[in-house]
Amino acid sequence: MSKLKVANLVGARPQFIKASAISRVLRRHADEVEEILIHSGQHYDSSMSDVFFDELEITPPKYHLEVGSGTHGEQTANILVALEKVLLAEKPDAIVVYGDTNTTLAGGIVAAKLNIPIAHVEAGLRSFNLRMPEEINRKAIDHLSKWLFCPTQRAVDLLHDEGIGRRISDKGNSQSYVLNTGDVMLDVANWASNDLSVEVERPDSTYVVFTLHRDFNTDNPERLSRILEGVASLSNETPVIFPVHPRTAKAMTEHQEQMLIDAGCDLRSPLAYKSLMKLVKHSSLVITDSGGLQKEAYFLQKPVVIPRAETEWMEMVDIGCAALADDDSSAIVSKSMSFIHQPPTEFPSLYGDGRSADIMVSSILSYFS
Ligand code: UD1
Repeated sequence: MSKLKVANLVGARPQFIKASAISRVLRRHADEVEEILIHSGQHYDSSMSDVFFDELEITPPKYHLEVGSGTHGEQTANILVALEKVLLAEKPDAIVVYGDTNTTLAGGIVAAKLNIPIAHVEAGLRSFNLRMPEEINRKAIDHLSKWLFCPTQRAVDLLHDEGIGRRISDKGNSQSYVLNTGDVMLDVANWASNDLSVEVERPDSTYVVFTLHRDFNTDNPERLSRILEGVASLSNETPVIFPVHPRTAKAMTEHQEQMLIDAGCDLRSPLAYKSLMKLVKHSSLVITDSGGLQKEAYFLQKPVVIPRAETEWMEMVDIGCAALADDDSSAIVSKSMSFIHQPPTEFPSLYGDGRSADIMVSSILSYFS
């Protein structure tokens, strides 16, 4: 019997992390499945891409589309054109896509038109903010996918509200499978926690980890300035380590950078996965607009202050382990200080048991068997 062929599509930093868990499980089923790893090239700096392949033991890409940066239209279109050629040549039985980036959207459109069934990892997330490019990408990909692997029950319910995976009429979308698999990022966090011996420079005392990259924060000078002012004030109270995303590095003015440095904030290049996990593990708090890092902090039982008005991961806000501060400088300081002085003590299991990738791969394999 010929092997099943599964394309695994990645392009941006959080996707390398999620795909590593699927890649590991697919390799365990190597007698039944051939994995074709495709890298769109959306993220191309070594610190944003290559380091993850080495560190997380991801199958090396068979194809690198090298699309690089561009406007949303350009970037998405370049992936569409290049990926179509690859999928036409490879004819995979299924494709796995991750999260909500332009790579995810482009992968979904190409695969759907070629009638290749799509497995969407991290389905059902919504911020209800259609000004976020990611929200547009999420809605589109969820409506195109066959397997919708949801990290939480809330995500399942949100999909059902949109009529996905549920027969809402005779013409309802009953061809898709909506499953609460738990969060694949927990699989990776558990895997990595076995070996966090990596060396990473950090203060002896308690400290805060801060990251920022969302376009609505970096590309809006007023918001960026208010958030950085809040972080600079906090740096006067407690050490803050700030690995800077390339988008943010471009958006920050020299004045803002100097303000942070003068306040004692430790600006660094983007960090590899295990280094960041180790930093978070020994921190007292994380401030981030990244959904992925928000959860990684939770897995490591750290509170999170979110410089956004909303989050896709509301459950941890609801139980008091995360707080929304938006772009309010004083709220960033006060919510951070209050978490530092009175950290949450309970971090109940919200995201499954760390075996999501097994459930996902089994669902795909059993469909074809
Ligand atoms: C993308 C995703 C976002 C995800 C994030 C993780 C979309 C719409 N957004 O945002 O959901 O949370 O990745 O990082 O897909 N750049 C470099 N080197 C790189 C990558 C980016 O210099 O390796 C710079 C470029 O100037 C680029 C900018 O960062 O224009 C933004 O990169 P892009 O991939 O378009 O979006 P992200 O902000 O990284």
